[in-house]
Amino acid sequence: MRLELSDISHRYGDLTVVSEINLTVEEAEVVALIGPSGCGKSTLLSIAGGLLQPSEGKVYQQGAAPEKCLNPLTYVFQDFALLPWRTVEGNIRLVLADTGLGKKEQQERIDLVLEQTGLLGFRKAFPKQLSGGMCQRVGIARALAVNPAVLLMDEPLSALDAQTRVILMEEFAALFSRIGISALYVTHNLDEAVRLADRVVVLSRRPGRIKEIITINVPVAQREDNDPVLLDYREQLWQQIRDEAIAADKEEHHD
Ligand SMILES: Nc1ncnc2c1ncn2[C@@H]1O[C@H](COP(=O)(O)OP(=O)(O)O)[C@@H](O)[C@H]1O
Ligand SMILES: [Mg+2]
Repeated sequence: MRLELSDISHRYGDLTVVSEINLTVEEAEVVALIGPSGCGKSTLLSIAGGLLQPSEGKVYQQGAAPEKCLNPLTYVFQDFALLPWRTVEGNIRLVLADTGLGKKEQQERIDLVLEQTGLLGFRKAFPKQLSGGMCQRVGIARALAVNPAVLLMDEPLSALDAQTRVILMEEFAALFSRIGISALYVTHNLDEAVRLADRVVVLSRRPGRIKEIITINVPVAQREDNDPVLLDYREQLWQQIRDEAIAADKEEHHD
């Protein structure tokens, strides 16, 4: 399935947050969305997912969702959003309840996503027994359980410490290319954008407009740490957002 955001603008009252956004996520493509805080990244993700009606413009889903897809556009949250009183398995089962899937099929899906995220040994654990990194693996497993077409990821690694972030980033890279899923991936971390994305969309500060779209011309599976080509892309992106980020930061502190 292909996701298209066409001429999207959004206002909260008098505040224009994003303006004239044209953006596509192709099938099996990961698009990173970067830009200074407050430029409307989360707003755009909500619009992409249909949670928020844009002031102007339209979102189109083109083509068929994957087979047995229960929710084409599925969120992955920064704070994991797990229910503390449910086990790992229980948290995943929740999104499969009332979907018409039989018990056996639910269990097969749970087992598959636990396997894909390295959680098979943790199915009976409760969130409070798990590290942040493990909780986000559960977040990913739960999202994959519905067999989505596009993952909508809002700074999924931002709540984690630096080492865990790198480890999960590598896992995402492997997982995304293995299952060929699409994602719209919001981050303010340039390393994540350069490691994971096929294309990186750079937004200006508020009102967020598309400043630049950079295609990373190295297959995700072939990207390695400290690859000079990737460092070049990172530098290009930094040049794009540096001034905007500094200006946005100053504005935030004056709010
Ligand atoms: N529900 C809302 N009502 C009013 N203003 C909002 C609402 N949500 C976000 N904003 C404002 O819109 C701007 C963009 O927010 P957001 O999309 O969260 O940006 P980002 O994710 O890029 O940091 C911010 O100035 C924020 O304060
Ligand atoms: Mg945000």
